[in-house]
Amino acid sequence: MKKLLFQLDTDPIANTFDTVVAYDGGADHVIPIGGMTPRNVATMVAGTIFTRSPKDKKNTALFVSGSDMVAGEALLAAIRKNFFADFRVSVMLDSNGSNTTAAAAVAKISRHVSPRGKRAVVLAGTGPVGQRAAVMLAREGASVALSSRKLERAQQAAAAVKASFGVEVDAVQAGDAESTRAALAGANIVLATGAAGIELLAEDDWRVHPDLEILVDANATPPLGIGGVDTMDRGKERHGRIVYGAIGFGALKLELHRACVASLFERNDLVLDADEIYTRAKQMV
Ligand SMILES: NC(=O)c1ccc[n+]([C@@H]2O[C@H](COP(=O)([O-])OP(=O)(O)OC[C@H]3O[C@@H](n4cnc5c(N)ncnc54)[C@H](OP(=O)(O)O)[C@@H]3O)[C@@H](O)[C@H]2O)c1
Repeated sequence: MKKLLFQLDTDPIANTFDTVVAYDGGADHVIPIGGMTPRNVATMVAGTIFTRSPKDKKNTALFVSGSDMVAGEALLAAIRKNFFADFRVSVMLDSNGSNTTAAAAVAKISRHVSPRGKRAVVLAGTGPVGQRAAVMLAREGASVALSSRKLERAQQAAAAVKASFGVEVDAVQAGDAESTRAALAGANIVLATGAAGIELLAEDDWRVHPDLEILVDANATPPLGIGGVDTMDRGKERHGRIVYGAIGFGALKLELHRACVASLFERNDLVLDADEIYTRAKQMV
């Protein structure tokens, strides 16, 4: 029986990245469909839950992709509403690679520095990757702050994290060198999750920081998010701190993404979102 993965993308055209990784994760056939919304998903779900016998249903799975995390969360919720009894298939949410990227970054951090009791700052943490990483760091026992150029946006993101995961994180403003230095007061862990090609933290500012133990940068596009970190850095020591660049932890992200896709076909009732994906990342790191 063929393993079918329906890639339901909230953007008008489904992205190619998730299609490729879905094949590499073991799907026999990937069907990318763009323009998916909670209003048009019911027919798609019906086609996956009513077509195969109970024992064969695990060979059909759903993957929610797209650039908009809020739209992805809404689509996942709508998909789950259409499931009942054993009429369900496994589903994974990874809008913008948010869950797999955040999980890989936080798993790498936790390997070197236990987040429990530490102060972690997620710079530009208002995007999909930053919000998910904030949840994972907080679940590991860190006191977490996520920053934005605008305090109001940081507060909105913190409220979204609380609403989705019941996790409390602080909201801080960091829009220039001075406010970023203030946001990093007392920080032991920094994870930079800003948009591609934007430097958020200068090398001179973290080099002399009294408390920082580890810095991880998710941005692979120059200029990188953290000055003085190489995109290939993988647990490298710089200025007495451990540093990871985006490609440095990106290999784990890809391995994790593929493993999660593979696990969708092991049963018909998995729901892979932040917590479950992070649990897998910790087993793999
Ligand atoms: N290494 C990997 O395997 C991997 C995989 C996927 C993604 N990524 C990377 O992870 C990073 C985060 O992804 P994402 O999708 O969460 O990011 P995103 O939503 O594109 O951006 C995150 C935040 O960056 C801030 N930002 C945007 N433009 C800015 C500017 N000109 N100056 C300063 N800040 C700016 C915004 O925060 P405010 O407006 O609130 O300030 C935004 O919410 C990206 O660099 C992405 O390329 C890496």
